[in-house]
Amino acid sequence: MNNEQWERYWSVEDNHDYWQRPAQSVIDFAASLSPQTHPRVLDLGCGLGRHAVLFAAEGFQVTATDVSSQAIAHLQRWGAVTGLSIATQVCDAESDEFAPASFDVVVSYNVLYHGYREEFAARIGHVRDLLRPGGLFFFTCHSRRDQKYGEGERIAPHTYLSPNSITPGDMHYFTDEADLHDLLRDFTILSIQPEEYTWDFKGTPRFASNYIVIARR
Ligand SMILES: C[S@@+](CC[C@H](N)C(=O)[O-])C[C@H]1O[C@@H](n2cnc3c(N)ncnc32)[C@H](O)[C@@H]1O
Repeated sequence: MNNEQWERYWSVEDNHDYWQRPAQSVIDFAASLSPQTHPRVLDLGCGLGRHAVLFAAEGFQVTATDVSSQAIAHLQRWGAVTGLSIATQVCDAESDEFAPASFDVVVSYNVLYHGYREEFAARIGHVRDLLRPGGLFFFTCHSRRDQKYGEGERIAPHTYLSPNSITPGDMHYFTDEADLHDLLRDFTILSIQPEEYTWDFKGTPRFASNYIVIARR
């Protein structure tokens, strides 16, 4: 994962609009939870923090982390303007910043697959450590139906430097359902749902295909 690319991306205000509205799947997930039973939420790779803000506004105790200091600075300003209390930290998804079992919920929207499969797997393993037993893990990742799959330089099985990404040249690992079952063998999978839509990339429509995964530790 190239941190400088994300720093550059988040430093351009024109890129912010889309990332300030929470994804419907996260809105639905948040609505299925209660701050009484699942108080401590980690938004891992929070970007500008749209999902951290969503959970904080619903009364959860939210921590938000990202490798990009630009993104975290934006979220700190957003928290100040809205009066929401959100703990923030600039750090990698595998940082040992937090004690084991620190969270009831980890949300990670379109983050964990940046890199090799081994990195994806290690991040999933790290999330398991961060969750208390019974805690919930919500994440999204690219499927092999995504239009980016197979484009750009192939650097490992199902792994490409994607030229048609919002941060072009990013390394993406693409998964499928059988692979997800293997990656999540230390969790109980509650649901794997497709999330497919068309988006605009420099004036060209592109097909995106993700999985929305919810699992219990
Ligand atoms: C596609 S954006 C999604 C942001 C946010 N989750 C959202 O849905 O608005 C991906 C984010 O993941 C962050 N990221 C990528 N790799 C990371 C890593 N290894 N550790 C922490 N954050 C990472 C990037 O800085 C970027 O903010």
